Amino acid sequence: MSRKHLIAGNWKMNLTPDDSASLVEEVNAVVGKQNAVQVCVCPPFTSLPLVSEKVEQSEVLLGAQNMHDQPSGAYTGEVSAEMLRSLYVSHVILGHSERRQYFGETNVSINAKILAAIQASLKPIYCIGETLEERDAGKTMEILSSQVREGLQSYPSRALDLLVIAYEPVWAIGTGKTATDEMAQEAHAEIRGVLSEMFGEAASSSIRILYGGSMKPENAAGLLAQPDVDGGLIGGASLSAKSFCDIVEAAISAS
Ligand code: PGA
Repeated sequence: MSRKHLIAGNWKMNLTPDDSASLVEEVNAVVGKQNAVQVCVCPPFTSLPLVSEKVEQSEVLLGAQNMHDQPSGAYTGEVSAEMLRSLYVSHVILGHSERRQYFGETNVSINAKILAAIQASLKPIYCIGETLEERDAGKTMEILSSQVREGLQSYPSRALDLLVIAYEPVWAIGTGKTATDEMAQEAHAEIRGVLSEMFGEAASSSIRILYGGSMKPENAAGLLAQPDVDGGLIGGASLSAKSFCDIVEAAISAS
């Protein structure tokens, strides 16, 4: 089953709306007309309205970095799926390791967000990954398996076309340390194996699994050439139009 590569930029807590507009204009100019590879930018909430306008005429998709699991109500500081939809957001990053680490998110709380996202037809980019201690203790596959099983508890098969997984080893995020091509492929194949046990082989073979963690133009080609690596979730390198677009070009070459 051929899976179109997806390259998503996670801008994290960076860039004002004006800076975001400039960055997305540069991205649009280089990769906004092609559709060999899907491209998605995920700015902070405050930049979504302006970036949404900028991508309206382009192939670039819009993602958010988080959302609440409830549709509305007394949840000060939070944003709902419907609010994101009203800005033409199509994707939402959920369960990023920074949210697990700093904001107490767990597989269970992330599961509620994932189910709320698909209810609103948003495509969740569900992040999973092991810490260095877990890898050193030989627990990588166990951790990934429980993150997949618990985070996707009660996930309906009919909505699998919305699902994207991002494998992001915590020790590789923002550190400059990348998983080797072989390490990434091994983890991705393992994750697909768990998805296959949960949803069946045919369905699992159509789910995209992105790699994230210090992906940059220099290492993107090797990672994206792996059979089970279906794209990238890019942090630091997505803040420069040049490096982000170079990664998109690498994905186009690998397709
Ligand atoms: P990085 O971040 O590319 O800066 O390592 C990736 C991410 O956190 O999604």
